Amino acid sequence: MAPTLLLVALVAVVGSVAAVPRSVPAEWSLHRRADPDALIPLKFSLAQSNLEKLETFLLDIADPRSPNYGQHWSPAQVKETFRPSTETVDTVHAWLTHDAGIHAHKIRLSSNGDILQLNVTIAEAESLLRAEYYVYSNDEDGSMRVGCHGGYTLPEHVSKHVDFVWPTVYFGGPRSISSRSESISPSSTFGRESGASTIPIGNLADLALSGCDTAVTLDCLRDLYNFDFTPVSGRVNSIAVAEFGDNVYRASDLNLFFNSYRPDQVNNTPTLISVEGGNPNVAGDVGEPSLDIELVMGLLGPKQNLSLYQVAQPLASLDPTDELLAALDGSYCSVSPVNSEGITDCGDKPRTNVISISYHFNPDLNEPSIAPVVQRQCTEIGKLVLTGITIIASSGDGGVAYQQSHECLLANGTLVAGNPNGSFVGQLPASCPFITAVGATSVAPGASTEQVEESTTDFPSGGGFSNNFARPAWQDAAVRNYLDHFVPNYAASVFNRSGRAYPDVSANGWPLVIAQGGGFVLSGGTSASAPIFASVIAAVNDARIAAGKRTVGFINPALYSDLFAHAFNDVVVGSNPGCGTQGFPAAPGWDPVSGLGTPNFVKLRDAFLALP
Ligand SMILES: *[C@@H]1O[C@H](CO)[C@@H](O)[C@H](O)[C@H]1NC(C)=O
Ligand SMILES: *[C@@H]1O[C@H](CO)[C@@H](O)[C@H](O)[C@H]1NC(C)=O
Ligand SMILES: *[C@@H]1O[C@H](CO)[C@@H](O)[C@H](O)[C@H]1NC(C)=O
Ligand SMILES: *[C@@H]1O[C@H](CO)[C@@H](O)[C@H](O)[C@H]1NC(C)=O
Ligand SMILES: *[C@@H]1O[C@H](CO)[C@@H](O)[C@H](O)[C@H]1NC(C)=O
Repeated sequence: MAPTLLLVALVAVVGSVAAVPRSVPAEWSLHRRADPDALIPLKFSLAQSNLEKLETFLLDIADPRSPNYGQHWSPAQVKETFRPSTETVDTVHAWLTHDAGIHAHKIRLSSNGDILQLNVTIAEAESLLRAEYYVYSNDEDGSMRVGCHGGYTLPEHVSKHVDFVWPTVYFGGPRSISSRSESISPSSTFGRESGASTIPIGNLADLALSGCDTAVTLDCLRDLYNFDFTPVSGRVNSIAVAEFGDNVYRASDLNLFFNSYRPDQVNNTPTLISVEGGNPNVAGDVGEPSLDIELVMGLLGPKQNLSLYQVAQPLASLDPTDELLAALDGSYCSVSPVNSEGITDCGDKPRTNVISISYHFNPDLNEPSIAPVVQRQCTEIGKLVLTGITIIASSGDGGVAYQQSHECLLANGTLVAGNPNGSFVGQLPASCPFITAVGATSVAPGASTEQVEESTTDFPSGGGFSNNFARPAWQDAAVRNYLDHFVPNYAASVFNRSGRAYPDVSANGWPLVIAQGGGFVLSGGTSASAPIFASVIAAVNDARIAAGKRTVGFINPALYSDLFAHAFNDVVVGSNPGCGTQGFPAAPGWDPVSGLGTPNFVKLRDAFLALP
């Protein structure tokens, strides 16, 4: 698939915070200077307490050798521990009232104590933040936004207490969405990313005779991952897939699939958890939800319910991951920049033990207008996994380049599509260290399910090193082994050696037999890999619950430990080209194409059952 060459002007990457002229973010146009008398709600997102200990807290419950393994925190304990300190609140409040002369009665502290809000005129905001405010319009949906793309400045004694101010430089995640296969009716709102287009299937009977290298059925997956599973604790166990915007499933497609491959699921549908009014009964794009739901319900069977977080996306320009996070944790609600558009589902939706996400929303760029926001979002993911949730995401289908248009970062700070020679760009949420990121494999041509798969060649599986998040201790030895012995000799500027490396694991991503749009197609992408791996983890939780143990929660420290080394099929063939390079080659042990490898369910389950 030849990606169209598309020049995307992104805000220049600069080190300092203030007064550097920057361009307007991609997909936004400068409309006019903001009216100085207009009132805007200004939000100061306060720095949280104890954040530097988040990784230690997580290791305490997720390191398989910790005596406290599995002792997940309660949501209340999480909220209390990370609430901004009195010193933080007082410092920012004192600056606003004493130094800036704002009346104390105009300033409101959110009920969670993490946001200071006030209504000010544009003129007041400009003097407070030493910024110039403009009105911008979104090129895609025409929505208007007030902001200051040129940046803003806080006094030094205040800035360490503030994560970010809204509205300022962050314009939402304009580059929505979706790791997934090409869909039948590509929607104009969501760009699709996969090089793995769907292929219509003529005759299912012919397919039954072919091997798992040419058509992957549920039986292929069961054989590949030793994944024969009947739930024993389905009543209390839970798993969900998240779907965004107008990506919706059709019950008729599920039935078509179940009729052929899982008759005991016919007429079953996932349990809807609507977030922000998300509704699957609308016209939309069926590619991603068909893949996710058919795989999970097909692999787990009718004794295990699947929940569906159907998340509405009010504007193409906003990152709806925030809506999902806020729906699960009310304390994130006021923090999210999206909240200025009015999030109403604040912590009122049920949490599930495992959540699978096959979408992407932001490039992993260390860029001043994005970094503080994506870091806050990743922290929120960390706080959720601390309560015992496992969050699993696709690693992307663009190899070492960012997504469907294969964007790479040029030395002048521009993100350019079409795989130009440039540095590698990962994606979020996969590169957040609290996510378990899943890459894609395929059965090699002519090979059987007895043989270990290879990294996909139909599209380059996403992987690499984060520009925002440091390498966590739990993957240090595995990643250093790769860097010492297998990494190509790239210049230091090509990728960030000290960054969080991903994917963590992999699973089949092509060519899966799926029913969508009234017929069968071959589909895939890392979009398929995430729900497959999520199903395996749900099955592990089932076994642990039946044994009277807690769910696995944050699994990465365990997966990388030597106690689990035998639980993966080590993928050693393949690579993930991009940005004018061959990307990274797969290698023995962990590598940035296939992670630790594909799962062996029985061994993985037994290793987790052996833990407290
Ligand atoms: C700002 O103004 C809006 C609209 O009048 C109001 O709903 C909101 O409560 C005000 N916020 C603060 C912090 O006073
Ligand atoms: C499972 O799904 C069925 C049918 O949708 C529903 O009645 C039941 O309450 C669900 N069970 C759980 C534990 O969510
Ligand atoms: C960066 O370089 C690319 C390729 O030479 C060019 O197209 C782009 O306009 C440049 N961007 C900036 C901001 O200078
Ligand atoms: C990209 O790099 C390759 C080799 O590293 C080189 O052959 C090619 O000319 C470069 N392309 C551009 C446009 O600079
Ligand atoms: C590399 O990652 C670290 C986090 O480990 C980050 O602080 C640094 O800015 C990153 N470097 C680049 C060039 O993105």
